[in-house]
Amino acid sequence: MRALEQRILKDGRVLPGEVLKVDNFLNHQIDPDLMFAMGSEFAQLFREAGITKILTVESSGIAPAVMTGLQLHVPVVFARKHKSVTLIDDLYTAEVYSYTKKTSNHISIAKKFLQADDRVLIIDDFLANGQAVQGLFDICDDAKVTVAGVGIVIEKVFQTGHKVVTDRGVQLESLAKITSFEGDQVHFLTTDD
Ligand code: G4P
Ligand code: NA
Ligand code: NA
Repeated sequence: MRALEQRILKDGRVLPGEVLKVDNFLNHQIDPDLMFAMGSEFAQLFREAGITKILTVESSGIAPAVMTGLQLHVPVVFARKHKSVTLIDDLYTAEVYSYTKKTSNHISIAKKFLQADDRVLIIDDFLANGQAVQGLFDICDDAKVTVAGVGIVIEKVFQTGHKVVTDRGVQLESLAKITSFEGDQVHFLTTDD
């Protein structure tokens, strides 16, 4: 998605450890017009997938997920993060390890928000090592719902997350695909859109 790539080139900063800081339009301050455009793009890409619900993880997945839900006219559920979970009877939970932050979190979703006939679209801001997506897959499996697609705002294709998705045979759509941060510059996979 050209507008997103241009915004990354304009406002993104490459930090040590191959981390892209995009806090002025995605991870802290949010640009609603760009979010809406990304929601349109995801809605178009998954229009025929029979999506009944969108799942994401708090906090940075929520904005693009809501913009997609708005345009597919389906509810959006975000998994909550906890250091540990004690009262879990009414929750689906999964453990998510963050390679970036070197910490483990539990994510959880109330059971009442997932029905076995749901067709779920997972949306997230970044796909790096795929641990967040794997956690959502685990929850979807527990809930016996179908994962019909994964939509990612920024994929770092040099990390292993895409394999987590494609190994499952699920449609993966990433709006910006970063191949490297060589020379502290952002390099994108060349697309024809
Ligand atoms: P993974 O889910 O793909 O395995 O990612 P990883 O553990 O490496 O990353 C953990 C957190 O860091 C996630 O956010 C993820 O979105 C984010 N992240 C990964 N790579 C980058 C990057 O290059 N730039 C930025 N800005 N974030 C990155 P989170 O902990 O869930 O935080 P949030 O959703 O509350 O923002
Ligand atoms: Na994030
Ligand atoms: Na995230």
